[in-house]
Amino acid sequence: MKVLVVGGAGYIGSHVVLELQQAGHDVYVLDNLQTGHREAVATAPFFPGDIADNELLSRLISEHRIEAAVHLAADSTVGLSMQDPGIFFNNNVGKGALFLDTLVKTGVKILVFSSSAAVYGSPDNMPIKESHPLNPVNVYGSTKIMFEEMMHWYEKIYGLRWMALRYFNAAGAAPGYGIGEDHNPETHLIPIILQTILGQRQELQIFGNDYPTPDGTCIRDYIHVADLSRAHVLGLEALSAGEAGGVYNLGNGQGFSVREVVRVCEAVTGQKIAAGISPRRFGDPPVLVASAEKIKSELGWVPQYPDLESIAASAWEWHRLNPNGFNKQL
Ligand code: UFG
Repeated sequence: MKVLVVGGAGYIGSHVVLELQQAGHDVYVLDNLQTGHREAVATAPFFPGDIADNELLSRLISEHRIEAAVHLAADSTVGLSMQDPGIFFNNNVGKGALFLDTLVKTGVKILVFSSSAAVYGSPDNMPIKESHPLNPVNVYGSTKIMFEEMMHWYEKIYGLRWMALRYFNAAGAAPGYGIGEDHNPETHLIPIILQTILGQRQELQIFGNDYPTPDGTCIRDYIHVADLSRAHVLGLEALSAGEAGGVYNLGNGQGFSVREVVRVCEAVTGQKIAAGISPRRFGDPPVLVASAEKIKSELGWVPQYPDLESIAASAWEWHRLNPNGFNKQL
């Protein structure tokens, strides 16, 4: 298939591009480089630009006969969404709506969308199934629900075939292909631990040790970015084969506390780090663990790297080889 990946220069997007190419698809990338890296797209035609640019998008779709799209072009820092919600409503919902409208009106009716566990809020029952009520505790999660709803209506009105993949905590890298996690500023746990190990930070701050969990720190379900990315390939292929779409969780079904993640990273790198305790971070649910049974049984998704050691080892390899991320000049 000829697939347009919007947001393909970002952390997850660049890994999705790699998996699609390895599965034999022709991939084209559109990214405004707000958070993405041009260097992360080495093997696909790259178009700098915005998803809301109707003219550019229409031209790209018709010139390259695009048949399907993956949408990862969104703001994703949960904390920022609670400080400046307008950014998220504008980019994730407003520009998302323009993008979706251009897609269907240019005849692209297969879409895989990057959604999030943030749609569920702070659930009580683990693991979380797709049928769990949606109750976001931050604006970011709310914007993901809004885009899912738009796809639902575009299906009814225009026959869009769509899938929303609700990611839990993506981590890891594909260091052999020169891609990995590089956010500025970095807010995610595993890269921050690894930057501390590299001496780029003095210590890790653990956000809260008074949660109702065995060691008092938050529990998350970490998934290798390569496994996550492969699910997009399965999704696109299923939609194009005429299978029903809908929403799917993506996680490993196993939770690790912040302290456990620190221990695994220390074991993988053979180095210890200093960790202090800070107050809880606003909007952090105590526990998020996925049930990914639906995507396993319906799409045959099988994670290749379900263990946290493999995830941390690939992230460490990337950080060790690229201590300054994509900006090698620093
Ligand atoms: N944490 C720390 N110290 C840090 C950074 C993180 O203690 O310096 C903790 C957080 O409080 C949280 C855990 O480590 O308990 C994981 O935090 P991340 O920032 O790595 O990830 P989040 O769980 O906050 O968010 C991620 C994605 C979201 C997505 C969510 C879904 O960034 O986009 O997973 O589970 F919505």
